Amino acid sequence: GSGEEEKLTHECKELLLSVPRERGWRTPFIYQFQGFWCQPKEIQAILSFHKHFQAKDGDVILATMPKSGTTWLKAIAFAILNRKKFPAFSNNHPLLFSNPHDLVPFFEYKVYANDQVPDLSILPEPRLLATHIPFASLQESIKNSSCKIVYICRNPFDTFISSWIFSNKIRPETIPPLSLEEGFNMYCNGAIGFGPFWDHMLGYWKESLERPDKVLFLKYEDMKQGIAFHLKKLAKFLGCPFSLEEEEEGVIEDVAKLCSFEKLKELEVNKSGKSIMNIENRHLFRKGEVGDWLNYLSPAMVEQLTQVMEEKLSGSGLEF
Ligand code: A3P
Repeated sequence: GSGEEEKLTHECKELLLSVPRERGWRTPFIYQFQGFWCQPKEIQAILSFHKHFQAKDGDVILATMPKSGTTWLKAIAFAILNRKKFPAFSNNHPLLFSNPHDLVPFFEYKVYANDQVPDLSILPEPRLLATHIPFASLQESIKNSSCKIVYICRNPFDTFISSWIFSNKIRPETIPPLSLEEGFNMYCNGAIGFGPFWDHMLGYWKESLERPDKVLFLKYEDMKQGIAFHLKKLAKFLGCPFSLEEEEEGVIEDVAKLCSFEKLKELEVNKSGKSIMNIENRHLFRKGEVGDWLNYLSPAMVEQLTQVMEEKLSGSGLEF
């Protein structure tokens, strides 16, 4: 194996030997674990997460497929939950000096990364945490407690393009570039980190229909179209609705502005800093638009992915 894999725990190495694997996007291989694809280090962290995480009723968990608007959702949820302590208009707001991934840690890249088991009971409440793990594979206490889950979903066309460009940008030099065609076929076959995308979306979608108080299902495109409406919806869901007074003072607009693509992209910390897994923050802010896939996909590709979506999502009520 590669140098990276040699650092894994014995338990994780054993598991990797027993599960299917495919070529990775930016690692030599990805492995199928509990029905979804991920990298060796992610599997190791997920095993630790399953063993050690204990949800509290007040926890807020942000869940996404990679490249669906995770950074945006983290900024928004942090700004909403902490707005009494840190008004969104403040010159000292933590989002002006830290990347959202440093304020809202991922279970799999931060909290349980590198075989560590931190004491999370000391975190201020409500605890705000994030994950790419599919609903079915969340730690049981997350499903069984009254903690809340917010999911953001993005149309598969844009998510694919964002993933493909991102993977090629942060790929180590030892991994050959992935062509658009190769990446596209892997995406359509489900072989992408935390995919297949349809299983990921449907897992959270179905739960949001069955337990609307537990799971809030948001869409990137809807948020782009009407951010104020969705900020209100999110604040209400999180149990801290904006008061009339706050609305009149323009607090909703302040949060929207602070978390906007334009604002975050231009901050020094996001131009020159690094956050998760030593990735340069600037790669997390590319275009932030809806429909950029039109510039990349051939008509045949559009047809192929449209068919995959019809086949996998039809009847679920989830549409793009
Ligand atoms: P593009 O590559 O299409 O530009 P994630 O945060 O899950 O990694 O998703 C990354 C995508 O969200 C990228 O899409 C990125 O530009 C976009 N993005 C980052 N911050 C954003 C923000 N504040 N508002 C809207 N989109 C944002």
